[in-house]
Amino acid sequence: MIPYVVTAAKDDIRPIFVVEKDMVSGWLESRSAAEQRWIADQNFKAEDGRHILLPGSDGGVSAILFVRGRDWDIWSLAGLPSSLPKGTYRIEGDLDAAAATDVVAGWSLGTYAFDRYKKDETEYASLVMPSGADEAAALRTVRALTLVRDLINIPAGDLGPAALEDATSQVAGEYEAEQVNIVGDDLLTYHFPMVHAVGRASDQKPRLVDMIWGDKKAPKVTLVGKGVCFDTGGLDIKSAAGMILMKKDMGGAANVLGLAQMIMDANLPVRLRVLIPAVENAISGNAFRPSDILKSRSGKTVEIGNTDAEGRLILADALTAADEEEPDLLIDMATLTGAARVAVGTELSATFTDDNDLYAALEAHGKAVKDAVWRMPLWDDYRHMLDSKIADINNTSSGGYAGAITAALFLKEFVKKAKSWVHFDIMGYNTRSRPGRPVGGEAFAIRALFAVIKERYGN
Ligand code: BES
Ligand code: ZN
Ligand code: ZN
Repeated sequence: MIPYVVTAAKDDIRPIFVVEKDMVSGWLESRSAAEQRWIADQNFKAEDGRHILLPGSDGGVSAILFVRGRDWDIWSLAGLPSSLPKGTYRIEGDLDAAAATDVVAGWSLGTYAFDRYKKDETEYASLVMPSGADEAAALRTVRALTLVRDLINIPAGDLGPAALEDATSQVAGEYEAEQVNIVGDDLLTYHFPMVHAVGRASDQKPRLVDMIWGDKKAPKVTLVGKGVCFDTGGLDIKSAAGMILMKKDMGGAANVLGLAQMIMDANLPVRLRVLIPAVENAISGNAFRPSDILKSRSGKTVEIGNTDAEGRLILADALTAADEEEPDLLIDMATLTGAARVAVGTELSATFTDDNDLYAALEAHGKAVKDAVWRMPLWDDYRHMLDSKIADINNTSSGGYAGAITAALFLKEFVKKAKSWVHFDIMGYNTRSRPGRPVGGEAFAIRALFAVIKERYGN
């Protein structure tokens, strides 16, 4: 069941006429004089994305005129379910399969609200499933984005490391994936020392969640997501303004879970692995300190320049573990740096990879599905900024320039054997509301990634 999309035909279904801007005047000529006058009297301007309710002879709303741009995308109709009068609607005219699928997913996502703590009183309109829509694909997108958004929106008080582990178990259980959780001091036994160091100050034990699914002989696709359930900054404590949104610091984990769910749901022929280091970067007597030197899983020693650069530490150990089995494709996602947001803003996914073919595919699919990525350089000449006099590497850079790049270069130190690696530094959050995309947790780059993985490995 896709929320607010119905298959059963009812009697009182209002048509939505979707008309391109330049075609509106022509279309009007085919309509009744009354409708033409109605539209003219209200001074309706045919601009992309606008709609107007059309009256019936009984005085009720009989139909909708919606003005569309040249291209369809998933968000084109996402504003309608909350703005049309309650009831059921259908799209008048034929849509190709891709557009029909987008319309369905976007309509349903237009009814998303984070209603765990406050009832959503909006009365949404429903859509009749247009013919040709790939229902399974639309549902897959809606479910993944809903999962990602909900996980990010739930405050850390209700979504600590243990609950993030449980959320993973739920997804794993649905698709019969195997899951191993390494919790608390076991992280030391099984050599995830930096996950332990970052997470040990919290009352909730740090953990490494490791999920595996699919045919063992299939190409190995491994996803690693930053699961910092709350980032106080640690002893290098954040300001109030810097901390207020930090429930979203598990946005990388949420996104890789959403992507994993899409891959398993589509039954793509890959051997999927998901690694989520889940911690809270908290403050207490046993917190790791600025100037501490940690020994990583890889053996490299890491000097702590700043305890607020914690994401790269937990990712480093998880990436090392991922890298050990030489995956065909290694993807990590993280709300890693404020610097990435300065560079590309909140709505582009800053993307780092040395694999030009992979980036080309990401860019093309990202454009096609309106899930934009933007390439940033893995500029090796900046590696010196991470040099430490007394350890193999520092977790923060000297100088403070190019913060997103040096963070990516830090991660790169821990990826040696993967055939291809890509790192996403994402916002994980909408800072403004758009139709279908309210302020709050958001999926980044996973629709683009799903398309790329499907094209590369799909059957
Ligand atoms: N979780 C933050 C990054 C972040 C901040 C993402 C704001 C999105 C919005 C990360 O752990 C962090 O604090 N990074 C520091 C790194 C610095 C100490 C080198 C940053 O970006 O300021
Ligand atoms: Zn931090
Ligand atoms: Zn963080």
